[in-house]
Amino acid sequence: MSLCALSISGFSQDNRAEALLKTMTLEEKVGQMAQITIDVIGKGPNPYSSFEPFEIDTVELRTAVKEYHVGSILNTSNNRALTLKRWNEVISEIQDVATKETRTKIPVIYGIDAIHGATYLAEATMFPQNIGLAATFNPDYARKMAEICAYETRASGIPWVLSPALDLGADPRFSRQQEGFGEDPYLVTVMGEQVIKGYEGDYNDINNPYHVISCPKHFLGYSTSLSGKDRTPAYIPEIILREYHLPPFRKAIEAGANTVMINSGIINGVSVHSSYDLITKLLKQELGFDGVVVSDWNDIENLHRRDRIAKDDKEAIKIAINAGIDMSMIPYDYKKFCNGLVELVNSGEVSMQRIDEAVLRILKLKIKTGLLENPVTSQADYSKVGSDEFGQYAYYAAAESITLLKNKDNILPLKKDSKILVVGPNADNMRTLNGSWTYSWQGEKTDEFAGRFNTIREALKNTFSNVDFIAGVSYNMEGKYYEENKDKFDKAVAASKRADVVILCLGENTYSEKPGDLNDLTLSDMQLELATAIADNAKKVILVLNEGRPRIIRKIEPEMDAIIQIYLPGNYGGDALADILVGKVNPSGKLPYNYPSYPNSLVNYYHKPAEEQIAAEGVYNYESDYNPQYEFGFGLSYTTFEYSNMKVSRENEKILVSVDVKNTGKVGGKEVVQLYSSDLFASMTPDMKRLRRFSKINLKPQEKKTVTFELMITDLAFINADGKSIVEAGDFELGIGTEKVLLTL
Ligand code: BGC
Repeated sequence: MSLCALSISGFSQDNRAEALLKTMTLEEKVGQMAQITIDVIGKGPNPYSSFEPFEIDTVELRTAVKEYHVGSILNTSNNRALTLKRWNEVISEIQDVATKETRTKIPVIYGIDAIHGATYLAEATMFPQNIGLAATFNPDYARKMAEICAYETRASGIPWVLSPALDLGADPRFSRQQEGFGEDPYLVTVMGEQVIKGYEGDYNDINNPYHVISCPKHFLGYSTSLSGKDRTPAYIPEIILREYHLPPFRKAIEAGANTVMINSGIINGVSVHSSYDLITKLLKQELGFDGVVVSDWNDIENLHRRDRIAKDDKEAIKIAINAGIDMSMIPYDYKKFCNGLVELVNSGEVSMQRIDEAVLRILKLKIKTGLLENPVTSQADYSKVGSDEFGQYAYYAAAESITLLKNKDNILPLKKDSKILVVGPNADNMRTLNGSWTYSWQGEKTDEFAGRFNTIREALKNTFSNVDFIAGVSYNMEGKYYEENKDKFDKAVAASKRADVVILCLGENTYSEKPGDLNDLTLSDMQLELATAIADNAKKVILVLNEGRPRIIRKIEPEMDAIIQIYLPGNYGGDALADILVGKVNPSGKLPYNYPSYPNSLVNYYHKPAEEQIAAEGVYNYESDYNPQYEFGFGLSYTTFEYSNMKVSRENEKILVSVDVKNTGKVGGKEVVQLYSSDLFASMTPDMKRLRRFSKINLKPQEKKTVTFELMITDLAFINADGKSIVEAGDFELGIGTEKVLLTL
């Protein structure tokens, strides 16, 4: 029978998917569950890379899509961004084969990592990474980033982004801190929801040609392994999973996210890709997720090859599909996956019912996305890609993310004619401003694509009249090479004596996932040495931190006159920083994590009271005091804010909290008003405090505003030892700024 998918429109979407499913052979169904990476169908010597410029190998494409019925493709070729035009050609070529040459005529669903903008699009508008968006404490920017990313991704002909990362950034060692929204579950939840709405639209109308399918990831507990390294075992009790890791995902599902990606890691000895409890019971049944569950890269194979819980690849497929994975990001050896899964169904080891459930979810997604009617978008409908209008938003987001951590004697802002020396490995490249997932996976190709934007050095030159630059050190100088290049270092130190102020741009080079694993959270030796030498010689030093995670700076901190955290601010980060340094923009970012002082004291702001026990006077110094360098929520401004008149009232289940905030300084500024609660005594040792609400307000000099928050009693709940969310009667302290009020339930 030959059946055109288009001919059965008219049914409801669900009926249409069911009708289509009924017409499909087992092989066709299994193919829908297969996702391959684009290099598999590229011209080239092997599936791992393609010749440049990228071209589709028409034979390989037909083998995958026609013969094996592969239903999904992801990624870019050769880990390099393509132009808008090329993306449209590539996607059209794929869809032509899928919709004209296959029996079912079901289009391929193309997915792509679009992490702080349309990562693999040459013309993309790159925003700050999520950690910076979190620091804005302004959900509007999370939304804007996602809306613009959706637009630019759809313009490429791609309907599905593999983001946002909703992993809890509770461990600063983790190599993907920058991809998440920081350590606080509530902040991650609020930002994550806005990103999903920005991608999918308020009503999740993903058939809208300016929306894309979102993919919250990595479900669940990905970011806090014991070693701090990527994809190493984590030990997370259910109570912690539910209290801190689950809320952002719960909200994402409520917000209608249409796909979810599974955590590559291992929790309590169980590979998450094998966990029926987490995938089927928790995600699909308890949270009611009815979209597509996609594996992470190669993670079904990993059950055999890495984790050794399956004796061969076929058993790995059986375990993962039975656990509830609907689509396998294979990404290379699709024949093994497709053949293996067909055999497993034929032998009864995977039921046809499980296959039907998975494929139905995939077909519904394709139908809902409008792919059956419009397998490709038309480039002509997207004139705003990479426009100044989009760039403005990325600039605003960067400007609001930048966090002023120290400003001794109000050295900042600087005068326009200050004699400035710019130093450091992060001062003059677009790569470190953007971090990973920028025109390439590890961000190493950024400078090839982002030449039209300003590095820190360039932006400072455009803003101040007297700017010199000597890098001093560079990342490829680390290790032995550095000793051989000591003269560059000495030059920077000598020049620092002649400047009014040195702007020292330190931090990290780009990384994500395994390449970002770290043995020492302290800032690299080479940079610490440079900072000390500069501080010994310069009149004033402003430290600019350009890093995805907080590298320890305790030893150099006292020597710095000002410290500014810019995170990974994206293509407009240099401009935003220059505007803050000159006082055109008043900084308003706040830290979305505790900035640790010591590598052995990685404690979150919501730690337990036992983390704060200070040794009794005159006894020993146990070094067990709570001692972040800077605390979550902290960030200075060029003005000052005064809090007063905090009031709390309760109406049944509702709690209203209000406070007056006044700008007591001479310049206008934005303030993040943060409401925390502390459960003073509880049947389980309570967190010291938890962020419950926040609001970013703009105040002119001497202006006063009243900010009111509405809480529900259930916002004060915690997960008890039975894994249940409960609110206990007793005293709670509610705090905003310097104000505190007791509430008794
Ligand atoms: C990452 C995912 C990503 C996927 C596809 C994996 O290695 O963990 O976050 O979406 O690759 O590129």
